[in-house]
Amino acid sequence: MNSVENKVVFITGGGSGIGLALGRQLAERKAKVVLADLDLQRLAQAKRLLSEQGLVVETIYCDVADSDSIKEAALATIDFFGKVHILVNNAGVTLTGKPGQIPLNDWRWIVDINLMGVVYGVETFVPLIQSHAEGGYIINTASMAGHLAAPAMSPYNATKYAVVGYSETIKQDLERDNIGVSVLCPAWVRTDIYNTERNKPSVGSESLGIEREEQDASTSGIWKQAVEAIESGLDPNLVAEWTIECMLANRFYIFTHPKMREMMAQRFRLLDTEFSTVGQDKRFLKTD
Ligand SMILES: NC(=O)c1ccc[n+]([C@@H]2O[C@H](COP(=O)([O-])OP(=O)(O)OC[C@H]3O[C@@H](n4cnc5c(N)ncnc54)[C@H](O)[C@@H]3O)[C@@H](O)[C@H]2O)c1
Repeated sequence: MNSVENKVVFITGGGSGIGLALGRQLAERKAKVVLADLDLQRLAQAKRLLSEQGLVVETIYCDVADSDSIKEAALATIDFFGKVHILVNNAGVTLTGKPGQIPLNDWRWIVDINLMGVVYGVETFVPLIQSHAEGGYIINTASMAGHLAAPAMSPYNATKYAVVGYSETIKQDLERDNIGVSVLCPAWVRTDIYNTERNKPSVGSESLGIEREEQDASTSGIWKQAVEAIESGLDPNLVAEWTIECMLANRFYIFTHPKMREMMAQRFRLLDTEFSTVGQDKRFLKTD
């Protein structure tokens, strides 16, 4: 894709943070933008803010955890603009806790949004993009947490690793349809993500543990550090600008934090060491 001008873009989680910043910058580049979110108040604020800056966007209610809701929002997008070219699966939430402490409903909540929301988006929008044969693009917002694991972040890590793996596959699957794919992998970005539970339905504490333990002090300490890192994180507008540049250059992995490179290299070294260990064991040589 060489330009976003006149392209129709659907962005989930478009009511705030990275999604809103992407919406703003795409609208500035003359794309036709639909911001989709389940938080109607934030959507209304976003629309007002952008219109004060002379930018017109459409906004629509959409709960990405509900496939019917995505379908309805997609059809409304076709009603507004006739077609759709770019899907940004960006809505996401976070959750901390250690094994034995995390209610299963909380697990389902984050998987339904962070993973299934992306799957529903792709399943709904790919046929719509294919239908006009003009090509298109999908950006899935994962995270550095899709490459590097951190303590007490297992639900977030599990869903974001899944989004990275899923994106790596669909990139290959959609190449022939002229639909590009990128996976956005930021570390800390200054948004409201730390206030992520604002939209969480109040759920029971069903857990497989014999007795549910309260989150221990180390977990809340980790969360406190994360909040501090987010508050001093990257400007979402810079992340959005770089994301659009990477999409236009058809770069698959979109990294935003060069300092994380060494941590990635450590992971690769560890994987390589494990391979070299099994590679020296004669019992496994026949499998090569
Ligand atoms: N902020 C960071 O440090 C950071 C780092 C890496 C990745 N990310 C990822 O970036 C994405 C955007 O997050 P953000 O940082 O802009 O946070 P944010 O909380 O500002 O924005 C997330 C948006 O998603 C919406 N949302 C939540 N659940 C939804 C649902 N079920 N359906 C539709 N919309 C829903 C929220 O209402 C909100 O507007 C997320 O996927 C997040 O995991 C953020």
